Amino acid sequence: MPATAVPLLDSLSALADPVRSRMLWLLDGQELTVGELCSILQLPQSTVSRQLKTLLDADWVVSRRDGTSRYYSLRGDDPARAQIWDVTRLQIADRTGADQDRRRLDRVLARRSETSQQFFAASAGQWDRLRQEMFGRQFAFEALVGLLPSTWTMADLGCGTGVVMATLAPHVRRVIGVDASEEMLAAARVRLRSMENVELRRGALESLPIDAAAVDAATLMLVLHHLPLPAGAIAEAARVLVPGGRLLIVDMAPHDREEYRQQMGHVWLGFSEEQTRRFVESAGLRLERWWPLPVATDASGPGLFAAVATRL
Ligand SMILES: C[S@@+](CC[C@H](N)C(=O)[O-])C[C@H]1O[C@@H](n2cnc3c(N)ncnc32)[C@H](O)[C@@H]1O
Repeated sequence: MPATAVPLLDSLSALADPVRSRMLWLLDGQELTVGELCSILQLPQSTVSRQLKTLLDADWVVSRRDGTSRYYSLRGDDPARAQIWDVTRLQIADRTGADQDRRRLDRVLARRSETSQQFFAASAGQWDRLRQEMFGRQFAFEALVGLLPSTWTMADLGCGTGVVMATLAPHVRRVIGVDASEEMLAAARVRLRSMENVELRRGALESLPIDAAAVDAATLMLVLHHLPLPAGAIAEAARVLVPGGRLLIVDMAPHDREEYRQQMGHVWLGFSEEQTRRFVESAGLRLERWWPLPVATDASGPGLFAAVATRL
């Protein structure tokens, strides 16, 4: 029922009852179930339910279903009622028994977190598996992208089918993808068709179709091992970055899968930290970090690394 459905003066009579005003006092600031109200007020469920219904009908209380539970709380969206309640609350705060209500309320609230504390104490050994079973592997990484500054313009260099762009685009101002392959770009166009802040450009990583100092950050993901001269592409990435801009490289760590040269046209069998450092420093970037990425149990390829470099 909307707050205006019961005239304010009519609803005042609902307040004029010691049990109902105690209830409202308890429901001010937290949601409680009928069972919790019963144990705090030490009243039978039939009494609590009846009084609660009066408060609901008079628009003093709202309820919310959560799974099989229903939670009740003081209605907070009506300024006139809020003023009346402020005065009433002061009147009843010092009533006899208020301390006991407060102590029993604290115990009920503590019991709620005890249940989750007991769960965590018992499940610490299995939590990682349970977390993955319930929510999958990806969600935390997808959420962490939200920490990127929303003002950034980013470039995904060698964007392929646009997987990385699709992850970045909802969180930053603009994403420019560059790739040499028309087929890859066509697939990226389909993937990104609903995103308005992305732009796909056909071009070579060795001479990027992007103005100098135009992007805040760039990614080179699974691309460098295809390039005869990785340092040239990194120098181009450095050119398009603003001063202080960042480059993220993800590629394979050194490996011995010779067959990748024929099968997939790999020119390099991975890169060590030292090689990566030489490439980025020769491009006028500073290597901030190089770290091996955890190996996914369901992945068959060589181990990957990530490196972050900053344009000086
Ligand atoms: C292995 S795919 C990776 C795509 C994407 N970064 C990803 O993580 O899914 C490598 C991409 O780099 C592009 N590429 C390779 N050499 C290039 C070059 N010299 N200039 C522009 N694009 C290039 C390819 O067309 C391909 O789309």
